[in-house]
Amino acid sequence: MSDLPEHVRRNRAHWDSVADEWVEPGRLNWQQSEPHWGIWQIPESEAQLLPDVYGLDVIELGCGTGYVSSWLARRGARPVGIDNSPRQLETARGFQEEFGIEFPLILGNAEDVPLPDASLDLAISEYGAAIWADPYRWIPEAARLLRPGGQLIFLGNSTFFMLCAPDLEVEGPATDRIRRNYFGMHRFEWADEDSVEFHLGYGDWIRLLRSSGFEIEDMVELRPPAHAATRFPWVTAEWARRWPSEEVWKARKK
Ligand SMILES: C[S@@+](CC[C@H](N)C(=O)[O-])C[C@H]1O[C@@H](n2cnc3c(N)ncnc32)[C@H](O)[C@@H]1O
Repeated sequence: MSDLPEHVRRNRAHWDSVADEWVEPGRLNWQQSEPHWGIWQIPESEAQLLPDVYGLDVIELGCGTGYVSSWLARRGARPVGIDNSPRQLETARGFQEEFGIEFPLILGNAEDVPLPDASLDLAISEYGAAIWADPYRWIPEAARLLRPGGQLIFLGNSTFFMLCAPDLEVEGPATDRIRRNYFGMHRFEWADEDSVEFHLGYGDWIRLLRSSGFEIEDMVELRPPAHAATRFPWVTAEWARRWPSEEVWKARKK
């Protein structure tokens, strides 16, 4: 633990402390056989984020309660989940038993994964490493893990949204006001949270992916339907209909 980077230590304490709040949402996602992505729960039939995963070796980077891996296992993939929070992994293990879907779970940092080079076909993250790990560490690590031709897919808050997000949850959802600088975006800390997040500007994402050995295939901006609802207080459907609140990067290892 003491040899972990400072943000990883802080995020471990944070996620262990909030893990109980993620059990029921995790169960709802484990119960669905079709993937439903992000805070708007957009079905895979609309979002079309996944390739045919049958027979693929997959790593989920920051798997939390493990539901993304459970969806992939049901489609014939061989997932491995890594997560930094022992308590989140306890929940994931409970769901594996409850739903009868087993796959390996590793306690660790997605920036430094204890698996060999070129051993996987797909690396995926939905609000895991995608926003909680330092991209300058976890993106090159994903490149190391993937076989040539392997795919990286990650989903998190959009850069647009991060510019408009409220400083404090009590301030209410994002408005049309830009609240912070675009240039220099990287590490984010909130006054009412003890955790650390990471978000980059678009040019920085492109340069980082390319310099790590990826070819960028797509960047999908998820748009919810008009009357969509989310349990998260920081954005409304009205906002997310006008500007992207979530984005998905798809890249292929050269
Ligand atoms: C919101 S959950 C993501 C899982 C799931 N897709 C979801 O949306 O609930 C975020 C997870 O990222 C994990 N995480 C944070 N930093 C990490 C790191 N450096 N390496 C691996 N996992 C990390 C946390 O422990 C937490 O379980």
